[in-house]
Amino acid sequence: MTDRIDQIAAEARAAIEQAATTDALEQVRVQYLGRKAELPQILRGVADLPPEQRGVVGRAANLARRELEAAIAARAEALEAAELDERLRTDRVDVTLPGDPPQPVGRLHVLTQTRREIEDVFVGLGFRVLEGPEVETVHYNFDALNHAPTHPARARTDTFYAGEDVVLRTHTSPMQIRAMESQPPPLYVIIPGRVYRRDSDATHTPQFHQVEGLAVDTDITLADLKGTLLDFSRAIFGSEREVRLRPHFFPFTEPSVEVDVSCFNCARDGSPCQVCKGTGWLEILGAGMVDPNVFAHVREHGYDPEEIQGFAFGMGIERIAALKYGIPDIRTLYANDVRVLEQFG
Ligand code: PHE
Repeated sequence: MTDRIDQIAAEARAAIEQAATTDALEQVRVQYLGRKAELPQILRGVADLPPEQRGVVGRAANLARRELEAAIAARAEALEAAELDERLRTDRVDVTLPGDPPQPVGRLHVLTQTRREIEDVFVGLGFRVLEGPEVETVHYNFDALNHAPTHPARARTDTFYAGEDVVLRTHTSPMQIRAMESQPPPLYVIIPGRVYRRDSDATHTPQFHQVEGLAVDTDITLADLKGTLLDFSRAIFGSEREVRLRPHFFPFTEPSVEVDVSCFNCARDGSPCQVCKGTGWLEILGAGMVDPNVFAHVREHGYDPEEIQGFAFGMGIERIAALKYGIPDIRTLYANDVRVLEQFG
């Protein structure tokens, strides 16, 4: 019996040495030390042996089992270390290598680029950038801006109402009032942001973007408005530009004007122009001198119409971008087709 034990132990030692992986080693363990293996069976049968054999066989079998367990543990440790080394070697990723294939670098949306360009111009002129709520009260959107109760923009067919006295703002002008409530003059601010109107065609989307401008100080005149917008037009559309003011109407400015910039396309090639339809001028925004009736709503915040004057303007960012880049249908700006968007800037 002890010969057989020695034989099993020798066989098992050889198998342990040969096991090349932790999985193979586990199979060897089951084969020699598992429940159905011969050595454990011998151990279990010791009690049934004749008394004179029990001690010898029991000792030999126990010794063999402990040896094999130790040999397996030692081999397992060596194999695990080797396998870990191998994994670390093959899994190593060089994060400094370029992607495969290299990913194209994206760009800002043309509306974001245009907004930032506009902001940069006015920040350079000393204006601060403010933002305001897109869900606005009728008071700020219409009443405080001197809209008559019958003004057509108040109609539910033109404007999105979120409640009896709450609208999605139809322009950024309500921020004129909020800005004046928040600090006394002098005030030089621009307010970029989203606005909403029930309108949808190639040149109108239900949601679009405006930049509002407001300057309030002593001795502000229409000439300051024109000079500011000339500077703006040259920065955005080229240093050769001129601007002209045409009389217009807005409830919250008096006088009110629409502002045109001289066509940059005609100037370039002299031929009949598609952009300005041969007129030589492009309408870019609405503006005017702040109406005293508007100041009356913020008089207690330091805005006495006898003491101060102001100009205001509002432009559509989509319109500026469409003119500048010759975009025929502004709905394409929202379709998120990168073949369209990657052309700008
Ligand atoms: N809020 C006007 C519009 O949306 C534009 C405007 C702003 C006109 C400021 C005058 C002064 O049409």
